[in-house]
Amino acid sequence: MNAPPSTLSADLYDVIARRRDVRAEFSSDPLDPDVLERVLQAAHSAPSVGHSQPWDFVLVRDTATRERFQEHVATERASYAASLPEERQQTFGRIKVEGVLESALAVVVTYDPDRGGTQVLGRHAIDDAGLYSAVLAIQNLWLAATAEGLGVGWVSFYREEFLRDLLAIPERVRPIAWLCVGPVTHLEEVPDLERHGWRQKRPLAEAIHHEKYGSH
Ligand SMILES: Cc1cc2nc3c(=O)[nH]c(=O)nc-3n(C[C@H](O)[C@H](O)[C@H](O)COP(=O)(O)O)c2cc1C
Repeated sequence: MNAPPSTLSADLYDVIARRRDVRAEFSSDPLDPDVLERVLQAAHSAPSVGHSQPWDFVLVRDTATRERFQEHVATERASYAASLPEERQQTFGRIKVEGVLESALAVVVTYDPDRGGTQVLGRHAIDDAGLYSAVLAIQNLWLAATAEGLGVGWVSFYREEFLRDLLAIPERVRPIAWLCVGPVTHLEEVPDLERHGWRQKRPLAEAIHHEKYGSH
C-alpha cells in the first residue's frame, strides 16, 4: 500500500489510529482553557444537514452533579449486567465503562431537532440526518482532543430523562452523549473491549460490499 501523500494527511491518519475511548487513563492534570476552546471549535465546525448546527455543548465541572450522574450510571450498568448470561457477566465485570469522576471535564452534547426551523434542507426524507449531524460534531471533538493529547470517553449508560432533569435540558432536546474529557497518562493502543475479550475488531473486507449489500 502507498504511504499517505503528505505529512498533514499522515498526521490525520495517525490521530484517527491513536484515538481511543478512555475510561481509566485520565490524569489529574488541569485542562488548558485554550486547548478546550480549540477542541470545541473543531466540534462546532462539523458538517450538518441544511447547515442546521443542531448541537450544543454543556460543560459540567461541578463535582456534585458528576457524582449524581455517576450513581445513575452505576445503576444502569448493574441493570445491563443483570441482563447478561453468566459468562458474559464475568467478562463485563472486568470492564470499566466510564471515567465520570476522574476526567477534568464533562462535555454533554445535545441535539435540538428544532434548530434550523421546520423545513431543514436535506431532512425532509431522513429526519435522523439531524441526529447524524450532532454525532459528527462529537467525532470532530474526539479527533481534535486526541490531536491535543487529551482523552475522551463516551458514556451512554444513562436514561435521557435523567440527564435532562440533571442539566435542565428542555424536553425537545436530546442529550446524546456524556463525554469525559481531559488530560490522560497515555492512550491504550488496543480498545478496552478487545483487550478484555468482549468483542474483536471486524476485518475491513467484511464491511465492504461490491454493488449489492452482502456481496464481498
Ligand atoms: C455511541 C457510543 C456510545 C458509547 N458508550 C460507551 C459507554 O457507555 N461506555 C464505554 O465504556 N464506552 C462507550 N463507548 C465506546 C466504545 O466502547 C468504543 O468506542 C469501542 O469499544 C471501540 O474502542 P475505541 O473507541 O477505543 O476504538 C461508546 C461509543 C459510542 C460510539
